[in-house]
Amino acid sequence: MLVFDKIKDLKKCLTDKKKTGATIGFVPTMGALHQGHISLITISKAETDFTVCSIFVNPTQFNNQTDLTKYPRTPQKDIALLEEASCDVLYMPDVEDVYPKNDNRQFNFGYLDTILEGEHRPGHFNGVGQVVSILLAGIQPDKAYFGSKDYQQVMIVKELVKQLQLSTHIIACPILREPDGLAMSSRNTRLSGEERKIAAHIPVMMQKAIALIKEKDINAAKDYIKAETTMHPLMKLDYYEVCDANTLQPLKQYIPLQSTISLIAVFVGNVRLIDNWPV
Ligand code: PAF
Repeated sequence: MLVFDKIKDLKKCLTDKKKTGATIGFVPTMGALHQGHISLITISKAETDFTVCSIFVNPTQFNNQTDLTKYPRTPQKDIALLEEASCDVLYMPDVEDVYPKNDNRQFNFGYLDTILEGEHRPGHFNGVGQVVSILLAGIQPDKAYFGSKDYQQVMIVKELVKQLQLSTHIIACPILREPDGLAMSSRNTRLSGEERKIAAHIPVMMQKAIALIKEKDINAAKDYIKAETTMHPLMKLDYYEVCDANTLQPLKQYIPLQSTISLIAVFVGNVRLIDNWPV
C-alpha cells in the first residue's frame, strides 16, 4: 500500500493511474478503523480498479473540543488493517495539507441540517461538507463509499455533490454490527466494560421500538425509548425519531408502505453513539 501525507503527491499518483483507464474508489475515514470501515474498502475494491482510503480527524466537524481531543487515534493498527484488506493507497494528511488556509465556506443544506444530528451538533455538517468537498476535489474518485450508520451524513454528502455538481457517485453501504447487535463505531473503543454492556441494549431497544410502532404507534415507541434510557443511569437520550427514509421528515403516524427509518443518538457515559434501523 502506498502512503501519502501530501495531496500533491497523491494527485500525481492518481493522474498516472487514471491515464491507464483505472476507475478510482474512495473511502474517507477518521481512522480508528474497524471491520465496518474495512467492509467499505472491500466494496470499493470489488466495484473499482484502485481504492484510496483517507484517515483524517477533521477538526471543523467537531462542535465539542473534548470530543475532538478524545477521538480515538490508532494509526499503526489502521495501516495494518488496510494492508490486510489490500487497500491500494492511504492518504493520511495533517491539518495544513487539508486546510492550507482557513475554510470559511458556509454550506446551505436546508432542512437536512436543521434536524437530528444537524440540530444537536450545530456546525457539524458544515464541517463534513468542508472536508468531503476538499477530499473529493483533490482525489476526484469515480465512487465514494460511506457507512449507513451515519444515515443523515450520507444524505448531506449526496446533497453536497449535487450542489457542487461533482461527478463522484456516492454509495451508501450497510451498517456492520457486533455479534450482540451494537453498530460498529470507532467510538465504541472509548466505552468502559460496563458501558459497553449497556450499549448492547441500544439495538435491543431499537427493535422493541419497531415492534411497538407496528403494534401500537410511533408515540408508544418514543415513550418506551425515553423510559428505557431514563432507567439506565449511564444512558442519556439525545434524540429518538421516526422519519420518512427518503426525506428525513419526522412522521407522526406509521404508514406500512412508506419507507420509514428510526434513528437514535444516545450518550452511554460520556460517549455519544448513533444508530438507525429501518422500520
Ligand atoms: O464519517 C466520517 O468518518 C467522517 O464524517 C468523514 C466522512 C470521514 C468526514 O470527516
